[in-house]
Amino acid sequence: MSVLTVEKLRVTFPIRGSLRRARFTAVEDASLTVDENEIVAVVGESGSGKTTVARCVVGLQRPDAGELRFEGSTIPARRPPELKQAIQMVFQDPRSSLNPRMRAGAIIEEAWLTHPSTAPPGPRSTAIAGALADVGLDPEVARRYPAQLSGGQCQRVSLARALTLSPRLLVCDEAVSALDVSVQAQVLRLLVELRATRRLSMLFISHDLGVVHQIADRVVVMRAGQIVEQGAADAVFSNPSHEYTRALLDAALELNDLSTLRNR
Ligand SMILES: Nc1ncnc2c1ncn2[C@@H]1O[C@H](COP(=O)(O)OP(=O)(O)O)[C@@H](O)[C@H]1O
Ligand SMILES: [Mg+2]
Repeated sequence: MSVLTVEKLRVTFPIRGSLRRARFTAVEDASLTVDENEIVAVVGESGSGKTTVARCVVGLQRPDAGELRFEGSTIPARRPPELKQAIQMVFQDPRSSLNPRMRAGAIIEEAWLTHPSTAPPGPRSTAIAGALADVGLDPEVARRYPAQLSGGQCQRVSLARALTLSPRLLVCDEAVSALDVSVQAQVLRLLVELRATRRLSMLFISHDLGVVHQIADRVVVMRAGQIVEQGAADAVFSNPSHEYTRALLDAALELNDLSTLRNR
């Protein structure tokens, strides 16, 4: 069964300064699914509507039209707490998505305070250490502020925070784009590992086809708000059917040799 179904999604924004209240269509007629335990990547150049789709999925943006379903049921406009818990997001810039005035331990603990039903039994410090260990961090990281952590460590803390609520679907919006290539590879490996150990499904958004090639089962290609192609990652990468996908791949190939990046 699909964990996430997005059907005919449409999102428009008001055009600032326009006299006739004209609206700009950021996403038009976008449909995709994410199956259980599957990693689906959404790729496309900057401005193609990827983040807007992600924001709709996590409930930060209300669509103009279309339907979102989670595990077969329509997601209501007002999400019940269980649903908010089940769909978690990890953002691009780990530093700015973490509260700079909170220690890593408190950042993780906050999730349990917001959703008390998810709070684990036993001492809080043990639970925090466990959550940090799950993302490959030492317990002593709990005492540090975001500014005292590296980019990769910050992104792991973000991930730990998202995972504390035992989500079913993780939405990663350019989650490794701000990281160095070597750290990127570590975080990608961690995501693949977590997918297996936690039976997570992921909507993985990235403009970087090299990254997507390393992690995605399926690929959805967006251009100017529309999905132009989707399919199994291997098929899309080896035999793209849309010229835009081919152009994206050519651009990526100029930067990296994809075949050497593939390491699963
Ligand atoms: N809140 C907003 N108000 C107006 N326009 C927006 C807003 N959010 C996004 N857009 C526009 O929608 C388009 C898609 O943006 P986005 O989803 O962020 O693309 P991507 O993540 O693929 O770079 C862009 O042209 C962007 O400028
Ligand atoms: Mg974006």
